[in-house]
Amino acid sequence: MVKAIVAGASGGIGQPLSLLLKASPLITELSLYDVVNTPGVAADLSHISSPAKVTGWLPKDDGMEKAFTGGDIFVIPAGIPRKPGMTRDDLFKINAGIVQGLVEGIAKYAPKAYILIISNPVNSTVPIAAEVLKRAGVFDPKKLFGVTTLDVVRAETFVAEITGEKDPAKLNIPVIGGHSGETIVPLFSQAKPQVQIPSDKLDALVNRVQFGGDEVVKAKDGLGSATLSMAYAGFRFAEKLLKAVNGDQNIIEPSFVYLPGVPGGEAIAKTTGVDFFSVPIHLGPNGVEKAIDVVSSANDHEKKLLEACYTGLQGNVSKGIEFVQNPP
Ligand code: NAD
Ligand code: LMR
Repeated sequence: MVKAIVAGASGGIGQPLSLLLKASPLITELSLYDVVNTPGVAADLSHISSPAKVTGWLPKDDGMEKAFTGGDIFVIPAGIPRKPGMTRDDLFKINAGIVQGLVEGIAKYAPKAYILIISNPVNSTVPIAAEVLKRAGVFDPKKLFGVTTLDVVRAETFVAEITGEKDPAKLNIPVIGGHSGETIVPLFSQAKPQVQIPSDKLDALVNRVQFGGDEVVKAKDGLGSATLSMAYAGFRFAEKLLKAVNGDQNIIEPSFVYLPGVPGGEAIAKTTGVDFFSVPIHLGPNGVEKAIDVVSSANDHEKKLLEACYTGLQGNVSKGIEFVQNPP
């Protein structure tokens, strides 16, 4: 029996993500929470002939308590998306408070749940969530994940376009660091199976993975950012986590976690100097089984990229922690 909650379920990501979760046989109850339109989205999805029982909730009439209570896994795509010319950090002002409020609700109504954060800026919203959970005395770093899977999905797709691989998802490419611009660091040298990227294409490929989000924001021309590819990526991560929790072995996917709090993470944090960081995570019955150190084996080119990542990421992380510790 698995109760999944989507917080921000009526949005551009929330709706297709909820559709994928509704279609999954791993989920028995799907609770949709948003400040608008969840009764409609829930009614629509509830006609699909899959096992999950769907309910929709709004904040009124204790909707958050009803939506969240008994939740096993929360996926959070609540908050505003970018428009052309904006950075993810420009979203902080509005999204920080939204994520804080939702995680306070999770701490109160479902303190043992897995929490997957999609809302941007991920580099700051995950530290915000950690701080809220710490304050409530319910922080389990093995259960809090910043979803960086879209960066991995993009790396697979863009590499396949170069190498001619017919099924991009067969590529396994660690993308580490954070989730914005230069904090996103693809490690093509550690791809499995190995990939040969021509040296005259490498810089453009790295840049495309780092700024893939901007490509979509520009193409949508004011109507938002990636939603469908993000729903796919968010579902991919949620499904892998649920499979691992159910006992499937050898499931590994990068995610942005609090390194000092997870097995294997302390040593990686010493190298990076940043506590919140995305690395490949071996997922298991309790969430993070082990953080895998791919940082120390990065090649010289990747180490240079990592230096730029550390600087930007540290500022984003501190901003999130500060927001909760010293509210503006
Ligand atoms: P959207 O505006 O289409 O949807 C957001 C939804 O959140 C809306 O339905 C809105 O009503 C809801 N919402 C706002 N405040 C809420 C609250 N307090 N409680 C519950 N729901 C609330 O935006 P979108 O395109 O779905 O993007 C959502 C977020 O995901 C953005 O911050 C975007 O930057 C981020 N994003 C992250 C990634 C990633 O890789 N992690 C990828 C794409 C988008
Ligand atoms: C993405 O990478 O597509 C998301 O983080 C959305 C954005 O703002 O680019």
